[in-house]
Amino acid sequence: MSKKQVGILGENVLVPTHVGVIMDGNGRWAKKRALPRKFGHREGAKTFRTIARHAKAIGISYITFYAFSTENWKRPKDEVDAIMDLFEKYLDEVRDFMDENIRVRFVGDRTMLKPVLQEKMKKVEEDSKDFDSMTLVLAINYGGRDEIAHAVRSIAQDVADGKIGADRINESLIQSRLYTEEIPDVDLIIRPSGEQRLSNFLIWQAAYAEYYFTNILWPDFSKKDLEKAVLTFSERNRRFGGI
Ligand code: FPP
Repeated sequence: MSKKQVGILGENVLVPTHVGVIMDGNGRWAKKRALPRKFGHREGAKTFRTIARHAKAIGISYITFYAFSTENWKRPKDEVDAIMDLFEKYLDEVRDFMDENIRVRFVGDRTMLKPVLQEKMKKVEEDSKDFDSMTLVLAINYGGRDEIAHAVRSIAQDVADGKIGADRINESLIQSRLYTEEIPDVDLIIRPSGEQRLSNFLIWQAAYAEYYFTNILWPDFSKKDLEKAVLTFSERNRRFGGI
């Protein structure tokens, strides 16, 4: 769902409630400068901070960033370590976001992450749970298919235990067992770097999403680019299967 929200773009702009961002193109950004890939991720992490703050200024209520997918473990170890280090650094300085009244949440299978990261994630979620200017969601070790499999396992267990009947399984029950739980469906998915695919990101939640693609590489993605994406969304006519 989206609502008329008077953010910095003005009162005639329909601001998406939930925006998803696939932070793609860090590797190519570094390659163009003959730098190791991890430098691209470092720049990408800076862009992430800028765009998260600007999302709040625009009036977006939820923004989910795809930071690490269930498939990204296949990358060389030093690249995986570099991304995890950037993530840990962010967790350590996340208090800046709390000063801005931003709630922070994580989606994905965290059992695969280092215990110290899991602890820090839990603490950040607890400490920010009452903040309500915007919810910032980081997808880390996240895969849409993995998320659905996880939800199905949890429901199947309840059926096996006799807690619920199979005939009670419906969309809202499945929705309630996803990592995103009470987070609303995503309205707009932004993918920079010229690729035009979803790559296992929020596949359940994106059933009615609009897409915005741009050739800009993620480290170069600017506040103006976010505004352009929101303005493009605002001009689209969403019918949710109706007429
Ligand atoms: C995709 O670009 C990017 C990733 C797989 C990692 C994204 C991670 C960050 C921006 C840093 C994490 C920061 C925080 C704060 C969690 P790519 O490497 O696939 O780029 P390419 O397609 O050009 O090779």
